[in-house]
Amino acid sequence: MSFTKVCTVDDVWEGEMAPYTVNGHEVLLVCADGGEIKAFQAICPHQDIALSEGKFDGKKLICR
Ligand code: FES
Repeated sequence: MSFTKVCTVDDVWEGEMAPYTVNGHEVLLVCADGGEIKAFQAICPHQDIALSEGKFDGKKLICR
């Protein structure tokens, strides 16, 4: 596994999410309560909807 820098910690605030394209893949970064940043596949596998259209409350990422 390799790492690719896509932003800085100042680009995704606690409780927020931000979509990025990384090496041709759509990725959604979220900054959870407490400041931990996590990356998810940005497209919901159920119906190919962007997860960035959903909600993130700092704990749960919910598809629209
Ligand atoms: S489109 Fe159904 S859960 Fe995301």
